[in-house]
Amino acid sequence: MAEVFCPFDVGEEFRWLREHAPVSRIDLPSGAQAWFVTRQADARQVLTDGRFRSVDAARLMRPGTTDAGVAEPGPGVLLFMDPPEHTRLRRMLAGNFTVRRMDQFRPVVESIVTAQLDEMARRGGPVDFVREFALPVPSLVICELLGVPYADRAEFRRRTAAQVDLAMSEERAAALWAESTEYMARLVADKRAHPTDDLLGRLVAEHGHELSDAELSGIGIFLLGAGYETTANMLALGLLLLLRHPDQLARLRDAAVVDRAVEELLRYLTVVNNAAMRQAREDVEIGGQLVGAGEFVLVSLGSSNRDDAVYDRSDEFDIDRSPAPHLAFGHGVHHCLGAPLARLELQVAYPALLARFPDLRLAVPFEDLEYLPRTLVHGVRKLPVTW
Ligand code: HEM
Repeated sequence: MAEVFCPFDVGEEFRWLREHAPVSRIDLPSGAQAWFVTRQADARQVLTDGRFRSVDAARLMRPGTTDAGVAEPGPGVLLFMDPPEHTRLRRMLAGNFTVRRMDQFRPVVESIVTAQLDEMARRGGPVDFVREFALPVPSLVICELLGVPYADRAEFRRRTAAQVDLAMSEERAAALWAESTEYMARLVADKRAHPTDDLLGRLVAEHGHELSDAELSGIGIFLLGAGYETTANMLALGLLLLLRHPDQLARLRDAAVVDRAVEELLRYLTVVNNAAMRQAREDVEIGGQLVGAGEFVLVSLGSSNRDDAVYDRSDEFDIDRSPAPHLAFGHGVHHCLGAPLARLELQVAYPALLARFPDLRLAVPFEDLEYLPRTLVHGVRKLPVTW
């Protein structure tokens, strides 16, 4: 799993699995085993079936781990909680991501995008799009939404690696998580003392009596990481994919096409390639395969989003395909809470980018690009562009 991986190149491997072994036994880097689910119908079943729980199995994915068990999830980390606690916490947060709230937030996203484009223009090409746009935009957006000082970004970026970098040792990841907790606990204490009008501030004001400081910090850390790492990689890989399809890129100038194009980018790239590990609480049959109580299941969102049973010409990138729901944001109770925000960022960013730099192009040959190792989120390391 640590090999470098080109996210454009997944079709054949997944197709073979869907046809021949849709629920197959795989070895994880730790030596533990899991069932790998590659068809969309099976994926949907696993992600909505209450007989599976979502577990923090990062240590199973790290090579050299001796303890093959799952970790006790940190307080407030929604993804590894189960109903009814999960439902209770999710309800407290959901109001921050409604369509109405996103409409109110749109001008903030637009001004962040414009400022970053100004900065790119000032520097002049070529620039590394990852560094100059794809990382700062979602970092600024999530900081603004949560009420986290952007000045601290270098530190939280370093620490977020603990959530996504599977090559990192268990000890190092735990140490970084502890640092994050300390940082966020200080911020929460500040917000208790001096209420602010942002997500964390409102959460403290409205629910501070029923949430512990540890829960509030856990919510903050998880949202911060989930909010920029995913969107940043999506922004950069999405632009790369569009640059490979100039005819489709040009169509993004038509406002009516933008939402559909963003959905196709999300489907085709599926930057969160696997859902978090699920564990069967009891024996369950998936796609004709018995999954025993206690066994692990890894759902391939990437393969599900290329399933020919759902999409015509599934390995083709086509912004004109008739809209079909996809699993890029997961499915079921853990469906991405930030999906409306991620969509908003992508829908604002691409047209603005094109309008500003109509002649945007890669500044190096496509073949020279390097991708992130197969971490939890696909991405491109650097994306030199010019105009
Ligand atoms: C959950 C993808 C952006 C917050 C998820 C899941 C996926 C996902 C696949 C479900 C994982 C599973 O079931 O195992 C993405 C992608 C994004 C993105 C592709 C960007 C393109 C964001 C943003 C935020 C966010 C911007 C926050 C502001 C969350 C949270 C969860 C989650 C809190 C857990 C929800 C729960 O367990 O109830 N995301 N996400 N995500 N995401 Fe996102």
